[in-house]
Amino acid sequence: MIRLENVSHTFSTAANDVLAVRDVSLDLPRGSFMSVVGPSGCGKSTLLSLISGLLPVQTGSVTVDGEPVDGVRRDATMMLQSDALLPWRTVRQNVGLALEIRGEKKGRAERVDAIIERVGLAEFADARPSQLSGGMRKRVQLAASLVYNPSIILMDEPFGALDAFTRANMQQLLVDLCRAQGATCLFVTHDLDEAVALSDRVAIFSKRPGTVKAVHDIALPRDRDVADVQGVPGFTEARQELWDELRDEIDRELPAGDSAEKHHAH
Ligand SMILES: Nc1ncnc2c1ncn2[C@@H]1O[C@H](COP(=O)(O)OP(=O)(O)O)[C@@H](O)[C@H]1O
Ligand SMILES: [Mg+2]
Repeated sequence: MIRLENVSHTFSTAANDVLAVRDVSLDLPRGSFMSVVGPSGCGKSTLLSLISGLLPVQTGSVTVDGEPVDGVRRDATMMLQSDALLPWRTVRQNVGLALEIRGEKKGRAERVDAIIERVGLAEFADARPSQLSGGMRKRVQLAASLVYNPSIILMDEPFGALDAFTRANMQQLLVDLCRAQGATCLFVTHDLDEAVALSDRVAIFSKRPGTVKAVHDIALPRDRDVADVQGVPGFTEARQELWDELRDEIDRELPAGDSAEKHHAH
């Protein structure tokens, strides 16, 4: 459904040109969940922006169902680590924003309330963001991102700042909602446990300019329980295989003397 073919992207500034991603080809079948892991600065966020249409494609092609991506896509949602909730709006008003912008009036209130309920915030529908915990705000953000049933869900390290329990909760919610909506998800993370726990497949990127170094199938049951997945047979092996691919990419960023320490830490 989403297909990237030989995609490269260069950022040009007054000072220099930076080749951020190089010759990336990936296929994301409809309804699949892929994570992208790779060293910082290897072009992961750039890739999401290319798929969402926020950045114009320079080289290669990005297509959705065979159609080239040309401009910001209304069927995609992008969620970042920082939340973009409007402080003067209630939870309900924040969640409804995307439907307002799209001019979708029919059934709007019901859809908003249904997803607020789904993320467990029914009691807080009239609260403002400042009255909520970080985890609750993240739930609002997830509801606001998914309320219009996007078929493409792009996530850029969305749960990095959360405590472990809230995080497991949010991960499960995301996987369940993606599946319920039949959405295709591309999920950027630097956390290998998270990549294995959530994904059907994981793409490992090289250091910049980012290229696809390998794509691993995660052969765990699809209906796994995210909070308990670390104990499922095959989890540790899958995580180790990802780390084996990634280690070289990360070591190359460090001065020679640091690399023994880095190996030790992991
Ligand atoms: N708007 C921009 N202008 C210039 N350089 C950029 C811009 N966005 C990203 N870059 C550069 O492109 C490279 C890849 O960035 P990014 O996609 O954010 O990497 P990642 O998300 O993997 O950390 C980095 O070297 C970054 O500095
Ligand atoms: Mg990034």
